Amino acid sequence: MHSISPDIYWTGYIDWDLRNFHGYDTPSGSTYNSYLILDEKPTLIDTVKYYGFDEMISRIKEVIDPDKIQYIISNHTEMDHSGSIDSLLKFCPQAQVVCSPKGCEGLRKHFLPSGTRSEKDWNFKVVNTGDELNIGKRTLKFFLMPMVHWPDSMATYSPQDKILFPNDAFGQHRASVERYADEAGADVIFEDAAKYYANIVMPYGNQVLKALEALKPMVIDMICPSHGLIWRRKEDIAKIVHLYEKWANYQADKKVLIVYDTMWNSTKQMAEKLQEIFDREGIFVKLVSLQAGHMSDIVTDILTSKLVIFGTPILNNRMLPTMAGLLMYLKGLKCRNKYAMTFGSYGWSMVGFKELETSIQDAGFELVGQGKYVQFIPSASDLEGLAYAVTTAKTLIGQ
Ligand code: FEO
Repeated sequence: MHSISPDIYWTGYIDWDLRNFHGYDTPSGSTYNSYLILDEKPTLIDTVKYYGFDEMISRIKEVIDPDKIQYIISNHTEMDHSGSIDSLLKFCPQAQVVCSPKGCEGLRKHFLPSGTRSEKDWNFKVVNTGDELNIGKRTLKFFLMPMVHWPDSMATYSPQDKILFPNDAFGQHRASVERYADEAGADVIFEDAAKYYANIVMPYGNQVLKALEALKPMVIDMICPSHGLIWRRKEDIAKIVHLYEKWANYQADKKVLIVYDTMWNSTKQMAEKLQEIFDREGIFVKLVSLQAGHMSDIVTDILTSKLVIFGTPILNNRMLPTMAGLLMYLKGLKCRNKYAMTFGSYGWSMVGFKELETSIQDAGFELVGQGKYVQFIPSASDLEGLAYAVTTAKTLIGQ
């Protein structure tokens, strides 16, 4: 039994074995957080993935007969949070499902198509921004957060507890017996939160800024996201809100990221030389190979880098498929306010570099300087010639 506040319990599911969340690498697993508020009208905020239902219901049963639940608040339709509503309703058929207008549409389309997943329509209570729900001693407040990160997304706030339940926002993928970021080691959890933001929330900066504006009047003692650890220390809450503001404004650090793939080590030699040159100049630089790093970790580094230098050899007149995959992923994530440079090795055709440059621009980067492309194997002078990138980089990142 995990009480996070008087009469509020964590009733989620710890997904220790999760290693892939729709393409996002999750080496530390995840949790689907569900919160039970014991009040005159017991209320559950979000459920868990369908296969975590047994664990969730057993946690609920530790504190209450599930038949007593009056409201199931669904802050977000995606099935990692709604996947157990149907099963839960069998225990508390009188409960109302509280959700946003888009949430109601989405839940019906997920769980009630032609009655195939359920015998009858759920008892929905549709709420909008500013709506309140009295559950006894508490009056919960709702505000919609469209596109943070689905059209239906909303947050629930308990003024009496000063707790915000923002669903995916401020979350992280980490399975843990600890429930609080400060217990698990806040530094690591901030890194998890950056990865989560980069891969899930990054395309929606403007919508995040609107949501942050709506949060300002609220006094918040605890942020209870739907994944990972809870933020409860004052300084951690201030920091995660500040980071979201920074990321939503597409502000990056004075950091250069070199990301590359290689065939016969020519592009690798160039990448390593670039890294050496930047390092020698005292510029914070990170080198990542597409063969060693997962795409979801690379975009986390991109989130915090002002300049990204992409390197690829040419194969069959094209950039390597690993680079094309990364750039396609980045196109969806809608990077902004970042610069890019390019380099690589080719055999007899350079046409693939044009494709590389176009794809980088399509992904939202401002391409600067001439790409540095070398036929077959770079000579010592080719490698030394890469120093040109430093002067450009210093201007771009303000060093
Ligand atoms: Fe954690 Fe958008 O679901």
